[in-house]
Amino acid sequence: MVDLEIQDGVAIVTIDNPPVNALSEGVRNGLSEAVQKADADDSANAILIICSGRTYIAGADIKEFGKPPTGVSLFDVHDAMEGASKPIVSAIHGTCLGGGLETALCCHYRVAVASAKFGFPEVHLGILPGAGGTQRLPRIVGVEKSLDMMVSGKPVNARFALENGLIDEIVDDLFEGGMAFAKKAGAESKLVRVRDSSQKLDEAKADPELFDRFRKKIARKARGFDAPEAIIQCVEDTLTHSFDDGIQAERERFMTLVSGAKSEAQRYYFFAERQANKIPDVPKETETIAIEKVGMIGAGTMGGGISMNFLSRGIPVTIVESNQEALDRGVSVVRKNYMRGVKSGRITEEGVDQLMALLTPSLSLEDLADCDMVIEAVFENLDLKKEVFTKLDGIVKQGAVLATNSSALDVDAIAAVTQRPEWVLGTHFFSPANIMRLLEIVRAEKTSKPVLATAMGLARKLGKVPVVSGVCPGFIGNRILFKREVQADKLIYEGATPWEVDEVIYNFGFPMGPFAMGDLAGLDIGWDAESSRGETEIRHKLCELGRRGQKTGSGFYNYDPETRAKTPEPEVEKLISEISGNLGATRREISKEEILERCLYAMINEGARILEEGMSQRPSDIDVVWVNGYGWPVYRGGPMYYADTIGLDRILAKIKEFQAQDNDDFWQPSALIESLVSEGKGFKDMA
Ligand code: CAA
Ligand code: NAI
Repeated sequence: MVDLEIQDGVAIVTIDNPPVNALSEGVRNGLSEAVQKADADDSANAILIICSGRTYIAGADIKEFGKPPTGVSLFDVHDAMEGASKPIVSAIHGTCLGGGLETALCCHYRVAVASAKFGFPEVHLGILPGAGGTQRLPRIVGVEKSLDMMVSGKPVNARFALENGLIDEIVDDLFEGGMAFAKKAGAESKLVRVRDSSQKLDEAKADPELFDRFRKKIARKARGFDAPEAIIQCVEDTLTHSFDDGIQAERERFMTLVSGAKSEAQRYYFFAERQANKIPDVPKETETIAIEKVGMIGAGTMGGGISMNFLSRGIPVTIVESNQEALDRGVSVVRKNYMRGVKSGRITEEGVDQLMALLTPSLSLEDLADCDMVIEAVFENLDLKKEVFTKLDGIVKQGAVLATNSSALDVDAIAAVTQRPEWVLGTHFFSPANIMRLLEIVRAEKTSKPVLATAMGLARKLGKVPVVSGVCPGFIGNRILFKREVQADKLIYEGATPWEVDEVIYNFGFPMGPFAMGDLAGLDIGWDAESSRGETEIRHKLCELGRRGQKTGSGFYNYDPETRAKTPEPEVEKLISEISGNLGATRREISKEEILERCLYAMINEGARILEEGMSQRPSDIDVVWVNGYGWPVYRGGPMYYADTIGLDRILAKIKEFQAQDNDDFWQPSALIESLVSEGKGFKDMA
């Protein structure tokens, strides 16, 4: 895993631990031994650390977390490096992350190729850079920038790294550049140790408000997480503690975080997201289709957003509408969205023009004939979608992927109207489609493996997180959401207020509760004045009264026109009470615990049914859908992971209790949960 070779007076230490050169036990042992040998070897006056494969060290080996420590500790490796008698230079390419960056910071010098990235993503795993990162980074790039880097977890590029002292030089060729720098450093024989610098810390001492400002800035995003505050405290220590005491405190905070439930859930989630990429019967080597030109049908909310994904990656899109007005509106929304980036400095106006030049508006499906992939995002109406696919079948070249963005409809029925159902699948983007990472890939009965593999690969290329779903109403995400909505509505008819339900869900860690979410999405989705049932459905009643959600300034809540801050509306409580009467429901006080259990266990039961029916490949895929698409707090893993932490036996007992109270079959326990409980197993035990 670690090789040592002397060349031209430089001891070259090469790390080779595919796929990402993680600091596994073998790497730590090998690195420690190689550095000590090289330091003692008189034929070398400098040491170069370099990695084989696609990247420099991308961090600790996450699989080792939570297990008893073995081999040489990373601290001992770092001490040996920092204490070496001759300069150590790291030559960096790919992603230098976490423990990898900490290792680089223990070298006396760092050089990198221009494409290299540097970062501390530990926060995403619910931990902090626990091998000196919180103490060394502020000494190099300064306190504010290191807070930004470590609390956001976002990597920085080589240019930023050079400008902020994180690296000493950008080289054209990794090996040649690294060797040249090492020879020079060997000749000068000067040892620069990050731990000894104090200038950046002195600058921060002049701005005592800095930490409070930073805490306020991140408060909303950091809600519920433990790691951000622990990172801030470690950085505060750099101003008040010696380096060694800072390291000690960092260690203690790291140990608390890594042994906590939140980090365990976040680590589980890291692997869940990667697992979701895998389809057992579609091997990695499956042939895929090159997507170089895309057709989009419908320039509404979704059509525009989906198109942006392709345009932003240089893939031309032809967008087709049914009328000129809708087409113009759709295209102008895309431009407006890009122009927002001009204001924030992310893109120039010329850049926007270049992206827009890739978008060809059209009123004719015939213009999609030579597209490699066509995505349909017209209204959610099965007959309309069938009509569109029938036409597409006669127009689009053979060998193109035909996708529907339906959020709930029968993709098999859509595929069946074509002569080529094996080329059809669902690509269910989430709104706003240019931002949301989740992409449900709906595998229809006849979808071919290359088509599926193409959609998965394309999703990754677009920076999305793809999850495969079978064909069922609402697929994985919305199907589960519907169940939560049913319970949330029942709860308010039985006596809870919408604000109580929302508060419970918000406090659990969701960004908002179901009623606030309804207001945001618009209460009139799927509502129709002709068939409105305001006597028995609160959403309908609110629509009848013109309270259609945030866009009309009121829905369940009233919204401040300036700040959009929401306040509960007592009249809405009265309306709900009246509807309860019409429904013959008995109103009573409902505890927070019951609210939470009914909302979440309804979801878990439905998740289990989805698994039972084979609509999701594995429990963790459901978790990926809910974390990415619906704001399930990642530090609780996802609904199926959470179910295991509560215990399926307890959940089953509660489901049966709710079933006994209800007259309908809503709470019919999933057979899968019953069988897992009878075997003393959880979802995690499903192979
Ligand atoms: N440990 C163990 N396995 C890892 C890993 C790690 N740090 N990083 C990646 N892998 C594995 C993945 O699970 C995946 O395995 P499979 O092929 O079996 O699914 C494989 O490596 C490739 O990973 P990706 O699919 O994610 O590849 P990518 O090219 O899209 O991304 C990457 C590469 C940017 C390095 C990304 O994998 C990543 O972000 N990794 C995590 C980096 C990280 O969090 N580092 C900090 C670790 S914690 C730490 O270092 C603590 C400390 O302070 C000591
Ligand atoms: P929308 O109403 O904003 O846009 C639909 C567009 O399709 C309209 O501009 C309409 O003029 C156009 N259209 C209708 N018939 C057409 C035809 N025959 N040819 C060309 N264009 C035609 O609807 P939205 O929200 O964009 O939804 C589109 C699809 O995406 C639906 O299937 C919906 O269920 C799904 N979806 C919507 C989400 C959302 O949050 N809005 C989220 C995920 C999926």
